[in-house]
Amino acid sequence: MTDNRRIVIFDTTLRDGEQSPGASMNLNEKMEIAQALVDLGVDVIEAGFPIASPGDFEAVQEISRSIRGSTICGLARCAEGDIDRAWEALKHAEAARIHVFLATSAIHREFKLKMTTEEIVKRAVAGVTRAVSYCDNVEFSPEDAARTERDFLCEVVEAAIDAGATTVNIPDTVGYATPAQMGETIKMLCDRVPNIDKAVISVHCHNDLGLAVANSLSAITNGAGQIECTINGIGERAGNCSLEEVVMAMRTRSDFYGCETGINTQRLVPSSRLVSSITGIQVQRNKAIVGRNAFAHEAGIHQDGMLKERTTYEIMRPEDVGFTKTDLVLGKHSGRAALADRANSLGYRLTGEQLHAVFEEFKDLADKKKEIYDGDIAALIEKQIHSAPEQEWSVVSFEATSGTGRKPKVSLTLRHGDQEFTEELSDGDGPIDAAFLATEKITGIRLRCKDYQVRSATLGHDALGEVTLEIEYNGTSFRGRGVSTDTVEATVLAILDAVNRIVLTQNTTSVTT
Ligand code: KIV
Ligand code: ZN
Repeated sequence: MTDNRRIVIFDTTLRDGEQSPGASMNLNEKMEIAQALVDLGVDVIEAGFPIASPGDFEAVQEISRSIRGSTICGLARCAEGDIDRAWEALKHAEAARIHVFLATSAIHREFKLKMTTEEIVKRAVAGVTRAVSYCDNVEFSPEDAARTERDFLCEVVEAAIDAGATTVNIPDTVGYATPAQMGETIKMLCDRVPNIDKAVISVHCHNDLGLAVANSLSAITNGAGQIECTINGIGERAGNCSLEEVVMAMRTRSDFYGCETGINTQRLVPSSRLVSSITGIQVQRNKAIVGRNAFAHEAGIHQDGMLKERTTYEIMRPEDVGFTKTDLVLGKHSGRAALADRANSLGYRLTGEQLHAVFEEFKDLADKKKEIYDGDIAALIEKQIHSAPEQEWSVVSFEATSGTGRKPKVSLTLRHGDQEFTEELSDGDGPIDAAFLATEKITGIRLRCKDYQVRSATLGHDALGEVTLEIEYNGTSFRGRGVSTDTVEATVLAILDAVNRIVLTQNTTSVTT
């Protein structure tokens, strides 16, 4: 038993995180992340904003129906229609929370809402009251609280708690606060709001100045009991407070913060990988806790120190956050059981069918590449589990040639149903451009590439190349991912992955030439 205060971890990867440009997720992907969040041990999962779109509604509803082990929360403005819709989506949850919000800062009152302070208090109270009529777990957020006049913030918070809010969340919506200021605001609320002991104080910090984690920690030291955060810190603009960083700060420095969470920290790296592979938003190498370099020691003096005594240069153990201890090499002679074991220790749970498919690809790869590392295995698995669920179009063959001062040449054959279509062209400014043009010609789908990234799965020039790209079609973004030792082929596979998502979602009748 410790005397540490238990901090509630409220994850908003599926709501605020999904607001990151290009991060929209389909239902299956959201379900997968929701289950991973339960396994990670988050207390509250904000699953979406049900009034925002039919897709958001369906996701909150499905997560409420089938995910068990965490409280499921839905966001709503302080408007009857929003709150009714949120409850409709949440009502089957094992434990539900309605989160209502209304902006309170002078800027938002004057320019966005055109409402007086009296009207704001009235609407906030009406919103909380309606939410309470459905559910006894209600959170209220005065949006842009960090820029709200202090007296008015106290007034709204007190009124919301009187109306039945059990959590009051203090958002720094535009990432403007500094750590000292955020801490003072929480302390001020504790000191001045007479009924504050009837609610948990929460913080929701954005990262525009890179201060979201520091601001959240400062709120904790001043009395906040809940932190709103996202995996990998994804979210609107520069993102939200990063779950892995804030949790590991509280754990590693529990001597200072005197706090603990229910997070199973060994699930941090697998959760980070999952969110990154689903959203296509890669984690920077030097990102604290989950970045590839977070535990890599380069300097000779550091390596020497580490060999003598790990704690000379390491404040956390990589295995405590879910990095596997060794980068065991697999190869041609490794069997299915060894692969399954590696997949397991990397944090993946594969069905028999998925394991079979990954094993087939693993054997092909082992023919091309002598040593297969964890990064290669992770890339093969993620390709398998996150490619478009239905493959309307598939690659039969692909050939590309390019060279200095020459137009690239491409020959591409795709299969659609039982028909094959071939396009041969000499166009574009390089083989990648030519691959896009050939795919457009065959599928009849106009492909506007908004983002394109290549990354090697491991070290070495024989490594697997992972291509992730984003294509805009009819105003919606579609991600695609491809993996191959040949990066041009990986590109073609990624383009087709995005095309298959377009066809699936838009139900496009493919036009062939
Ligand atoms: O940033 C913000 O203010 C929000 C609220 C809805 C909590 O996301
Ligand atoms: Zn936010």
